Parts: sequence; structure tokens; C-alpha cells
Amino acid sequence: MLNPRNVTASAPGKTILFGEHAVVYGKPAIAAAVDKRAYVSIEEREDNRTHVRINELGISGYLNIEKGTIELDNDEKNEGILKYVLIALMKTGSKDGLEITINMDIPVGAGLGSSAAVTVATVKAASSFKDIELTSDGIAKLAHQVELMVQGSASPIDTILSTYGGIVYLSRDAEEIIKLDIDSEIPLVIGYTSERGNTGKLVESVRLKMEIAPQVMIPLFNSMEALTNGAREALTSGDHKMIGEFMNINHGLLDAIGVNTEELSKMVYIARKSGAFGSKLTGAGGGGSMIAYCPGKVDVVIESINKFEKAFKVKISADGVRLE
Ligand code: MEV
Repeated sequence: MLNPRNVTASAPGKTILFGEHAVVYGKPAIAAAVDKRAYVSIEEREDNRTHVRINELGISGYLNIEKGTIELDNDEKNEGILKYVLIALMKTGSKDGLEITINMDIPVGAGLGSSAAVTVATVKAASSFKDIELTSDGIAKLAHQVELMVQGSASPIDTILSTYGGIVYLSRDAEEIIKLDIDSEIPLVIGYTSERGNTGKLVESVRLKMEIAPQVMIPLFNSMEALTNGAREALTSGDHKMIGEFMNINHGLLDAIGVNTEELSKMVYIARKSGAFGSKLTGAGGGGSMIAYCPGKVDVVIESINKFEKAFKVKISADGVRLE
């Protein structure tokens, strides 16, 4: 009889601290892994089928790794994240006959890169299940390919952060990935609206502005580059005031390139009024989420945002993908 094996891997979600959108134009960004994780467990089944359940989302279904198909247990639900799981299993050369259980403490739709975290954790769990040891670089690359296959286009930021953890300074094409050595606690609050921005459309709207007015847009991206580099120093030296200041400037510049919304700004300004050192929209914008940097004021900031939108606290996670 086969030994019943159970392998569980987990990977963190992420948030972009500085430089989103500018990163599309070759400028640096700084992103951080957060202490909200996706957990993927794999065990053998008695039959030759592959079944996945995502507990928190109430989504489950049968995957056919060999044929690349998904059959949901409940027709009404969107297969969404299951596609990432399927392609990750295919890419790791997994064979049917698996029972996969996913638990997420990353809220979906809060801009924390939940699909990348699930993808990275699946790649790690599936390769370990087959006794294959992938390097971190190998996991990040494979997971990025999965995101590209599912979404058509994707920056490698999410999969890099879910793989490596910590705070990372990087360029869009990930030619340069520098893990920043930061001792101090970085207390962050994430606020998010129910309305989600469409990353592809937002990136395209910025591209159009770049086409019609490069003389205006290029200096804005150069400023974003300068503030990201300044923020890197401020983060490393633990200069709260400057970290906050650079976030505020970054928010203004993101507004200038047209990716801000009234709801995001409302949260951004309430956070500042409640004592945050700085706050900005994070990610693609057009809805979605904001971050506030608020040493000593986390609870007050959460309470004020929660009056009209949703907010919660995150800490930076030093750990990237890991076996549990
Ligand atoms: C979206 O999370 C980040 C953007 O910079 C797009 C990208 O880097 O692909 C807006």
C-alpha cells in the first residue's frame, strides 16, 4: 500500500509600496510581502481524479491535469483561481489522482496578489510532492509563466514577492531584484473598496497619455523613480517621516496620471487625518486598495476607514514561500 503523503506549502500576498505604473516604463518599484498567506495541501486520492477545494471562497471542482479542463462542483461559481491551480499543476508535470485543499487568509480583491500567492504555493507543494526541489528563482519563474498563461499579461512583481518574501526593490522585467534589509516594524493598514480596477485597462489608459503627452508624463515617471529611490533610503534608515512623505507624493503623482478614484482618495485622506505618516493608492488603482503607513496609529486608522470601506492591518512578512 502507498504511504499516504500530505505536503502543504504556503506563500504570502504582497502590496506595492512605491512605483506602480512607473515600473511599466522601466522605473523601479518597492513591494512588500505581507503576513496574509495562501496554504495549499496536496495528498493522494484513491481514484485517478484530481479534486480542489478553496475553503474560504466556497469554490471546489475536479481538474483534469492531463486534458487541462475544470469541472466545477457548483455551476454558478466562477472557476477564477482554479485556473491558476490547474496550470501550476500542469507546469510542474503533476499527474492526476490528487486531493488539493486551499486555505486563504488573504482577502481576495483587496489588491494583495491572492492569485500569485496561490500559484506560488501550488508550484512549491506540487514540486515537493514529486520530490523535486526547485530553487526560489525556478519557482518565481514558473509561477510567473502560469500567471502569463492565465491572464495574458502580468508583471512578475506578485510572484516574486510571494516567492521571496520581505521587501523588494525591483524593476518590471525583474532584471534587478534587491531584497532590502530592514529591521524596523513597518505597520501598514490596507483599505479597499468593493469596486475593482482593471489592471490591463488602467495600464493602457496611462500608455495613451504617454503617447499624447510624453513631455508631461516622462517627468512624472522620473519623479516616481526619484521618490522610490528616496523611499528605499528612508525605509532602510527607518525614517518614518520621509517614508510617509514619499507615499503622499506618490499618491499625488498617481492621481496626476489618472489612476486615482474619489473612493481611494477618501480613504487616503481619512488615514492621514487619523494620524498616518503617509498614505497612497496601491497597485493599478481605478478602485481596489490603498495603504497607510501608520506607526502608533494602526487601530485609529482602521476604525476611521471601516466607517465607510473595509480596512485591516498587515505586517511585512520576511518569509516567502515555504513548506509547512
Ligand atoms: C499592478 O499591480 C502594478 C502595475 O504597475 C502594473 C504592472 O506592473 O504590471 C500598475
